[in-house]
Amino acid sequence: VSLRHLNTFGLDADARYFINVQSVDELTAVLRDPEWKGTPKFILGGGSNILLTQDIDALVIHPGIKGITVLEETEETVVLAVGAGEVWHDFVMYCVDNGYGGVENLSLIPGTVGAAPMQNIGAYGVEIKSVIESVEAVDIESGEKRIFSNAECEFGYRESVFKKALKHQYVITGATFRLSKKPVLNAAYGDVQKTLQEMGAENPTIRDISEAIMQIRRSKLPDPAEIGNAGSFFKNPEIPVAQFAQLRETFPEVPGYPVDAETVKVPAGWLIERAGWKGYREGEIGVHARQALVLVNYGGGTGAQIKALSEKIQASVADKFGVRLNAEVNFI
Ligand code: EPU
Repeated sequence: VSLRHLNTFGLDADARYFINVQSVDELTAVLRDPEWKGTPKFILGGGSNILLTQDIDALVIHPGIKGITVLEETEETVVLAVGAGEVWHDFVMYCVDNGYGGVENLSLIPGTVGAAPMQNIGAYGVEIKSVIESVEAVDIESGEKRIFSNAECEFGYRESVFKKALKHQYVITGATFRLSKKPVLNAAYGDVQKTLQEMGAENPTIRDISEAIMQIRRSKLPDPAEIGNAGSFFKNPEIPVAQFAQLRETFPEVPGYPVDAETVKVPAGWLIERAGWKGYREGEIGVHARQALVLVNYGGGTGAQIKALSEKIQASVADKFGVRLNAEVNFI
């Protein structure tokens, strides 16, 4: 089975076996089926954060579990249970349409609801961890269901327990979200403020925020339907304050955002741009011309080529700035 349409990089790789499961029961049945017991399993959600560098010799399971259910509602908040297979942005639109605040800053992020907690998706000052109540997951080995509280997910910057201690051990089948019916808006991010002003939104609503963010994303980030990509390819590196001070001596304009007293986060996009890579193209792959943090596949590129390019960028940034870039995208 070709996975070409199941990864936003549009890379051609084959899955040995493939199944789209529509319910937790169906998933459990497959995981417990003696016929599949000996076959390695690979979970593929929206495919928006992976780089396929080879065929997958496994049973690829795509959690297609749908549904949005109201679990609890008061005057202030609403708790929703959402299936892993819902498209993330469609869920955001559902919330905006119903006046449920909390995810509007995460508009237009590619991928599914099930994949979102995996790396604690975040954008424009908001991370999904601020609205997640719990995550429902199934143990791949035993088929047993488990509910993870927000704390048990161990969310960090583009991190969760599902990427670390429990890597490849669970399939996320759904999540519950606590959203606010009296939303506190988060419009502090510079670009957002500027765009809201341009839109003439003086007392912005969650819909205004969502629209501003869609506008910003469309202006900077390539649409995976047109040009293959997986959003930010690298994480923004966090470096010690002293190292940042040193960097600033050589490059006074380097941007940095304090994480805590010891650490500063530096935009990887800035480092990559200053190392000369923005808009770089090599055959069918390259670095996006409007956001250097995004690597792109113009059509016939391969995962191996993109991996090689990412290594060249890493080496060049390390050489010029002494900063190590780590991939945000998962290599398969
Ligand atoms: N910058 C450059 N050149 C570039 C890109 C960025 O100089 O080509 C510098 C600019 O100084 C800019 C700063 O980087 O002010 C920040 O850029 P931007 O606001 O575009 O955000 P980012 O740090 O590059 C992060 C997330 C994005 C998220 C945006 C907005 C990571 C790895 N990336 O990017 O997330 O949308 O902030 O919040 O944290 C993703 O994870 O796939 C993703 C797109």
